[in-house]
Amino acid sequence: MKIALASDHAGFELKEIIKEYLQFNKYDYTDYGTDSLDSVDYFDYGVKAAEAVAKGEADRGIVMCGTGIGMTISANKVRGIRCALCHDVYSAEMTRAHNNSNMLAMGGRVIGRDLAIRIVKAWLESDFEGGRHQRRINKIADYENQCQ
Ligand code: RB5
Repeated sequence: MKIALASDHAGFELKEIIKEYLQFNKYDYTDYGTDSLDSVDYFDYGVKAAEAVAKGEADRGIVMCGTGIGMTISANKVRGIRCALCHDVYSAEMTRAHNNSNMLAMGGRVIGRDLAIRIVKAWLESDFEGGRHQRRINKIADYENQCQ
């Protein structure tokens, strides 16, 4: 599984932690920046990771900013992206099982290292249940396609 990563300055330290986890667990990833604590705009980085996922250059994406909210809003503007903001393990499992989320967002100013790693692990290892949940996702995709 190939993962697209991105953060702004407020998510940068968490991104480095998640990179360590991915490396240790032999996940392939591309880091779309940012690469320091210097202030930047989350959209510029989040949209790169989201486009990589939408184009199939990555299977999943993980994005981080201060709250995770700006990254979530930005990623979800890209067609085909279902980005879920998760700060607990239950939501991380459920958004894979029910929403087939292809991107995860977290806030570096909201959660600590160990919880973030548990969330990433749960999100990467949980499968979509399909069935009625696929029907619901199809409605979102149909609407997105009608909107152009
Ligand atoms: C940056 O200060 C902060 O606004 C940003 O990281 C994010 O939390 C926005 O949603």
